[in-house]
This record gives sequence, C-alpha cells and structure tokens, in this order.
Amino acid sequence: MFTRDCRTGLAALGMLALSACGNLAGQGGAQPSSSGASQAVYAGDRPAAGIQYGIGAAASPAQVAAWNIDVQPDGSNLPAGSGSVAQGRALYAQACASCHGQQGEGKPMDRLVGGKGTLNSAAPVKTVGSYWPYATSVYDYIHRAMPFNAPGTLSPSDVYAATAYLLYMNGIVPENAVLDARTLPQVRMPNQDGFIGPDPRPDARNAACMKDCGR
Ligand code: HEC
Repeated sequence: MFTRDCRTGLAALGMLALSACGNLAGQGGAQPSSSGASQAVYAGDRPAAGIQYGIGAAASPAQVAAWNIDVQPDGSNLPAGSGSVAQGRALYAQACASCHGQQGEGKPMDRLVGGKGTLNSAAPVKTVGSYWPYATSVYDYIHRAMPFNAPGTLSPSDVYAATAYLLYMNGIVPENAVLDARTLPQVRMPNQDGFIGPDPRPDARNAACMKDCGR
C-alpha cells in the first residue's frame, strides 16, 4: 500500500515524497503492523470478510419506511391520504405562489402551468402540464423536493392537494377533483405518449439490471 502511494506521490511531489517514502520503507514499507489486530483486519486493501467494526446500527423498519418514498408511474407506493383542488388552492397560495407565481406562471422560479401544444414548436414551453408524462411523478416530485426551502415538510394529504391544484390549473382535472392513491394514477397526462421507449438508438442499452449487476 505504501509502495503504491509513494509512486503516485513521487510523481506529484518529487524529492519531498522521495524522502518520506524512504522513511516509510525503512519502517517496513508495505507490511502491515506487527500487531495481530491489524493483520487480521487487512487482506490486501480490503477488510477481510466477516469483520465487524462495531460502528453504526441496523436501520429500523420505521427508518427504512421513512426513506422509502419513491412513487412509481403506476402509482405504487403512494401513501394514504387525500387532497382536493380547493385545499390545494389554499396551500399553493401560502407555500408555492411566492416562487412559482399566483397562477403558476413562474417567476422567479419555474413555470408550472400552460405550454400545452407548444412542444413541437420552435419555442416549446415545458411545464408539469405540457411535458410531464405521469401525474404520479408530480406527487413524487413535490413530496420529495418542494417547497424548495423546506422539502419534506408537507403531509401526504398536502401533497395530494398541491398536485390536484396544479393539475386543475393545467386543465387536466376538474375543479371538484379529489386525489388519493386510487384516483391519482387514473389521471392521464397530455404528453404521456410523447416519450418513447425502449430507447431506439443503437448505442443505447437501457435494460434495467435488477440482480447481480456488474458480474
Ligand atoms: C423558495 C422557492 C420555492 C417554493 C416556495 C416552491 N418552489 Fe417549486 N421549485 C422551486 C425551484 C427553484 C424549482 C426548480 C428546482 C430544480 O430544477 O432543481 C422548483 C420546481 C418545481 C416543480 C418542477 C417544475 C418542472 O417542470 O421541472 C414543481 C412541480 C414545483 N416546484 C412545485 C412546487 C409546489 C407545489 C410548491 C408548494 C408546495 C413549491 N413548488 C414551492 C422553487 C420553489
């Protein structure tokens, strides 16, 4: 280990590294220390199998559940709760409008409303309404990332409500819509068919590896 580090160091540092390496080599160079503990731990550069370091703790099911928030396009993993357009209107005014505009028109941050029918034009306007293929992804994104200055603070019902209001402003759901784990996946987005898959480019390999990847 020391020998290899020294070669790298030599190239970078010249004579200074040379003298340091000389000292290390004098102490035994690549050999592990003579104490039994470190000889048992190191097998080459890697810890030997089965070694326990005694640090950390196993994550509890509750901790794992708290991180397991991914919502898939088909709606799997959507949590319990529900939210209406009306509830979303109030939430949006309070928690979103300062960055995204009163009507989702953007400024100072991303525009969230409009742009439908512009994607094929010279000036496409990409918003949640015009571009995003799945309503469930709107839930997923808001839940994990918004409000930008306090992500993770919205309850599932708040997120359903915010999603409902955004979809309503984009003309995708009616004003009386109530979204939950059952109704949200049924919402069809205008650009759902605007994405192609699998990727047809001959140099793109996009089969998802789910097991023993890299072997
Ligand atoms: C402090 C400013 C701020 C607030 C408040 C805020 N956002 Fe955002 N929002 C942003 C920024 C910045 C981005 C772009 C983030 C990026 O591209 O990484 C964004 C992006 C988004 C997007 C994705 C837009 C796109 O097409 O890519 C959505 C949807 C969204 N916000 C919804 C909301 C909702 C709903 C709320 C209220 C619950 C909210 N935001 C509150 C700043 C904010």
